[in-house]
Amino acid sequence: MKITIVGTGYVGLVTGACFSEMGNTVYCIDIDDGKVKNLTNGIIPIFEPGLEELVSKNVESGNLMFSTELNFGLKNSSICFIAVGTPMDEDGSADMQYVLEAAREIGQLISNDLIVVNKSTVPVGTADQVKSVIENEMKSRKVSYRVDVVSNPEFLKEGAAVSDFMRPDRVVIGSDNDAVIEVMKELYKPFTINHDRFITMDIRSAEMTKYASNAMLATRISFMNEMANICERVGADINFVREGIGSDKRIGYSFLYPGCGYGGSCFPKDVKALIKTAQDHGYDSTILKGVETVNENQKFSIVSKILKRFGDDLSGKSFAVWGLAFKPETDDMREAASVVIINQLIEHGATIRAYDPKAMDAAKEYYFKSNPDISFHSNKYDAVEGVDSIILVTEWKEFRSPDFDKLKNTAGKTIIFDGRNQYNKTMLEKLGFEYYQIGTG
Ligand code: UDX
Repeated sequence: MKITIVGTGYVGLVTGACFSEMGNTVYCIDIDDGKVKNLTNGIIPIFEPGLEELVSKNVESGNLMFSTELNFGLKNSSICFIAVGTPMDEDGSADMQYVLEAAREIGQLISNDLIVVNKSTVPVGTADQVKSVIENEMKSRKVSYRVDVVSNPEFLKEGAAVSDFMRPDRVVIGSDNDAVIEVMKELYKPFTINHDRFITMDIRSAEMTKYASNAMLATRISFMNEMANICERVGADINFVREGIGSDKRIGYSFLYPGCGYGGSCFPKDVKALIKTAQDHGYDSTILKGVETVNENQKFSIVSKILKRFGDDLSGKSFAVWGLAFKPETDDMREAASVVIINQLIEHGATIRAYDPKAMDAAKEYYFKSNPDISFHSNKYDAVEGVDSIILVTEWKEFRSPDFDKLKNTAGKTIIFDGRNQYNKTMLEKLGFEYYQIGTG
């Protein structure tokens, strides 16, 4: 099939690369000229395992093309995905300007019948809005083509996006047209071979499914963080409690890890947007507001432990921060707990020695530019030199079993604050470390 994808952000790029890998001809469109030039040369703007290889290979074979000209793709395509950003607006709602601008441009250029697929995370009712924007543009051009707008939300995890796309748990298709559903199924068939992974429904339910999914996952995390906070107060251990409850098949083990709070480009924004959508429709979402509050507070959990141990004045003290990205396997720092933790510690007078395998460029450029209180180090051992304590914020694999003897000899003090419960308390205490976790009394 011939497909146009508007927006080569994280979702658009992964979607384009994966469809081209299956033999489709894909035109990826972006307004950013520099980005388009780089992508054409196989240089991708984000770190995502497997993506660079996929892009280079398919650009070379001619299946994947990048351009700033929407019409370059549109005139050849029967399907057009909208995968532009929906950042958070000031009032917490999703900012729809890029989606609606894409719709307007499609309406101005459309020259054949088209299936328009909303891949961006958009509030319920957006598909109707997109359709009417395109139809209005066609009307003023005095042309008329059949336009079907489909909701096809993405469920990609950063750091595993290519494999999530290639082997999806499910493909949700929201449409009111059976023929269109069949075309979408045909497009996704190569990813769902041997398994019927399609879930078809009306458009609004598909739009809602995306928000409900992320809200559910965020709720599990906030719930576990709340349990961890209670465990700390009653002298229980959340690690045992997690095993104890996860063994119930109805609950399951995944997404039950307490930590420094969820971050990233999706959960914080989508939870807020759903609260706002509910409000706009006269419903006050008690649970989601609680999820958000617990998450905001959780980012301070490690800081409180540090202040309790060292006192409020941290002047003259230095801390190694291991991990800056909002989670492992990505260089994404959006809504990362590390930013809140580091800023709090600096406010209390501390200096920070940071290390992250991938996110240091983003940290230097966007979050701690010219901040004299933070230094960046080329590996995890350099970062701990002379520090009063090590703080583990992002659970990259390389932090899992460090050389503890080396840490003892390099750090000023043998104190570890573990924001992701990566180590065995008994073992570390035996090795002579003072060790603090989330959720252990
Ligand atoms: C999420 C959804 O998983 C994905 O389906 C959707 O399309 C986009 O949003 P992502 O933001 O890439 O994906 O990250 P995810 O792996 O879900 O983690 C989000 C945050 O939750 C991270 O900050 C992570 O550290 C935190 N988390 C996750 C926990 O604190 N505990 C857990 O048990 C799991």
